[in-house]
Amino acid sequence: LKDKPTVFIIFGGTGDLAWRKLVPALYNLYIDKWMPKEFAVIGNGRSKLSDDDFRETLKEGVDQFSRRGKVDNEVWNNFSKHLYFQSADIKNVSTYKDLGKRIRAFKKEWKGDVNVIFYLAVAPRFFTTIAENIAAQKLATDVAHSRIVIEKPFGHDLESARELNKLLCGMFDESQIYRIDHYLGKETVQNIMTFRFANAIMEPVWNRNYIDHVQISVSEQLGVGGRGGYYDEAGALRDMVQNHLLQLLCLVAMEPPVTFDADEVRNRKVDVLHAMRRFHAEDLSHMVVRGQYGPGWIEGDEVPGYRQEDGVNPESNTETFAALKFFIDNWRWQGVPFYVRTGKRMHQSASLVTIQFKDVPHYVFPNASNENWQQNRLVMSIQPEMSIRLQVQAKRPGLDMTINPVDMVFDYKGTYDTDTPEAYETLLLDTMVGDQTLFMRGDQVEAAWELLMPVLNAWESKQSLNFPNYSADSWGPEIAEALIARDGFHWFTLPVDKIKK
Ligand code: BG6
Repeated sequence: LKDKPTVFIIFGGTGDLAWRKLVPALYNLYIDKWMPKEFAVIGNGRSKLSDDDFRETLKEGVDQFSRRGKVDNEVWNNFSKHLYFQSADIKNVSTYKDLGKRIRAFKKEWKGDVNVIFYLAVAPRFFTTIAENIAAQKLATDVAHSRIVIEKPFGHDLESARELNKLLCGMFDESQIYRIDHYLGKETVQNIMTFRFANAIMEPVWNRNYIDHVQISVSEQLGVGGRGGYYDEAGALRDMVQNHLLQLLCLVAMEPPVTFDADEVRNRKVDVLHAMRRFHAEDLSHMVVRGQYGPGWIEGDEVPGYRQEDGVNPESNTETFAALKFFIDNWRWQGVPFYVRTGKRMHQSASLVTIQFKDVPHYVFPNASNENWQQNRLVMSIQPEMSIRLQVQAKRPGLDMTINPVDMVFDYKGTYDTDTPEAYETLLLDTMVGDQTLFMRGDQVEAAWELLMPVLNAWESKQSLNFPNYSADSWGPEIAEALIARDGFHWFTLPVDKIKK
């Protein structure tokens, strides 16, 4: 990478994403010596800022959001020399002509091949304009070295996702398109594949013969905050399930790839989406649940209900919670339910993948089936605790035969004394290196939309709901408990006293 000079163009350069995530990530990559020797970051925005103003603003962002805390002034001064601002409207052709000039000037200065990365950190309604202008000005004709990065949401439904794919694929090669799902960049998410495919003991039990069911739960204490306008059009299914949760499910359920090649890995994930059982109208009453949060208290602070949030319609029917029961119709998973849930303003912020194994075939010990008896369970905790816990049965020390469940724990904090890179560091580095493994391919995005469309359509057709149906600081609506309790299970949560952040 060191030999690959790079121009990074961020559309939405003064936006929240650039400020909180992208520039702090580039700064950390710089400190860790992952950035090429020659690079430039050009932020585009309509504000009238000089390069120096831009650098000053970004410094505040890095101060606040870098995992390393406050910046080191000397390092910052060296890094920030690479940052430039382009004050120009993304709708004007001249903006792209000017970018073309800047890129050519860098190429002349650096000689040889230069990576040019266009990062679209803007609202989706601008994707088309920007892509069309980049193509019209021939800024990305060097297929091997120019890339376009698209933030989510990728489409609003299947039809719009198809249109966007068609448009992008008409102008760029698929190998140039990097569709972001930031969950894939998280260390603990990347580790799901390592855990499964770098350990021989997992594969023999990773199937319907040993696994009873799987739970994927991403709960957040946060509400919609300042994003009410966006969220009210989206809802939990579009915002979280279509992308992050289905990607987690694919990582758990995929067949072993033959190699770690981007397309090989993505093919195996698409296979899962294709094998997922389609929802029919009669399934919806017992396989999907939605909810919306009401007002309440979170850790001592009074918080408004969803309908009272800024930018939200006071009669909104948008779901802030969704729970679904999926099946995967293939040899490995036939009959194994995958329960998925996500929600805002929930009791705990925690992202967990729980693999519940089947019970032993025969009880050997006296009192074995008492209330302490617990089938084996593997819990992959994505955040805030970063860990993998395997719950096994053990004999409690003592003269009688008492069996109780204990955890065998691998936690990142206790195991490694290095800091964990942020998801965006991994993903930005991958865009520079040209590795698409952790990015969504066009067909993957469409397959995920296709799966959810019957649910979205059914939900949208039902007007005025009796929302809110869960209060802030709860575990979601009661019907979400029923969804899983009907099958004899309950949603798993890590006991608070066990969590190591
Ligand atoms: C984003 C969603 O993609 O992911 C947000 O739009 C959500 O609504 C966020 O809060 C969660 O990400 P993380 O990394 O905080 O778990």
